[in-house]
Amino acid sequence: ETEEIVVIPGDGIGQEVVPAAQKVLDAVGNFEYVEADAGDAVKAETGEALPQETYDLVAEADATLFGAAGETAADVILPLRTAVDSFVNVRPAKAYPGVDALRPETDLVFLRENTEGVYSGHEDRLSDDLSTLTRVVTTSASERLAEFACDYVDNTSFQIAHKANVMRETDGRFRDAVVSVAEENGVETEEVLMDAFATKVCLDPTQFDVVVCPNLAGDVLSDLAAGLVGGLGLLPSANLGPERGLFEPVHGTAPDIAGEGIANPSATILSAAMLLDYLGYEDEAADVRTAVESVLEDGPRTADLGGDASTEDVTEAVVSRLE
Ligand code: NAI
Ligand code: MG
Repeated sequence: ETEEIVVIPGDGIGQEVVPAAQKVLDAVGNFEYVEADAGDAVKAETGEALPQETYDLVAEADATLFGAAGETAADVILPLRTAVDSFVNVRPAKAYPGVDALRPETDLVFLRENTEGVYSGHEDRLSDDLSTLTRVVTTSASERLAEFACDYVDNTSFQIAHKANVMRETDGRFRDAVVSVAEENGVETEEVLMDAFATKVCLDPTQFDVVVCPNLAGDVLSDLAAGLVGGLGLLPSANLGPERGLFEPVHGTAPDIAGEGIANPSATILSAAMLLDYLGYEDEAADVRTAVESVLEDGPRTADLGGDASTEDVTEAVVSRLE
């Protein structure tokens, strides 16, 4: 049995790290890839950063692995999230042994609302002096996220970061909807104001475990946590919808090192592990994570982690631990 996965390497190091992740996928399963274009390069050629053909493939595939796009990132990634009807962005921030991290004890996951809040596109220039933004929060999107969160924590507990003391109507609605779904499922919740969260997570990240956030808070706070664990080359993410998922490293195209074959493939390989989990290959996903962790601990390591190994060296090391 073969499983079809859409792969979109995109621009810059996307062209290097996505093939690396495919080699790792090939070491644990039987996958067929449909390759599609998106990003600056295809825009230069065709005028479209996201060709309709790519959008359609992603909108129909169970799973897509995306690398990164350059200047056109927003024109690519926002519609692709729509294509999978992604209501949650899952962003683990975990520090690994062997990697120099500001907070080596960090191990938490953000579940970020992925469709609304301040990123819903309702922004207006009303005069030379005045621009406004409408913040959109619906009970339905908040509940959908909360149901996912309850499932994700196996009905145990999670934290909610918000600012409902100030944004009473919007974050208040978000908080109330999330808490009520949690209560229905017997899940315990703890609320943290998002500004206080920023301080607390720096001082002691072990206080947090699974953090449910509105869109902007999730974006900013997860990047902050990324800083605690030692670098962009390590952070995977998943955009999940009810029927399909889009998996991507948190990093961009890294133009300063693109083409040199020295990008760290770990973030994309770990994104591929999230993809495996999503498709039901839980054992394979766990094996891939273990292999990446052991390579991070023992080396070889790429330059961003203080080593001098190539992307290929690291990829081969991961693959050889899987054999
Ligand atoms: P970036 O993530 O591409 O690079 C930031 C720094 O981290 C650079 O020094 C880079 O060399 C390093 N880095 C990132 N990933 C690495 C890896 N796997 N291995 C080793 N080093 C790594 O972010 P930046 O510089 O802000 O953006 C560059 C381009 O990427 C821009 O055109 C931006 O629009 C795009 N971008 C695209 C994203 C996406 O497609 N989802 C996300 C973020 C940025
Ligand atoms: Mg961001």
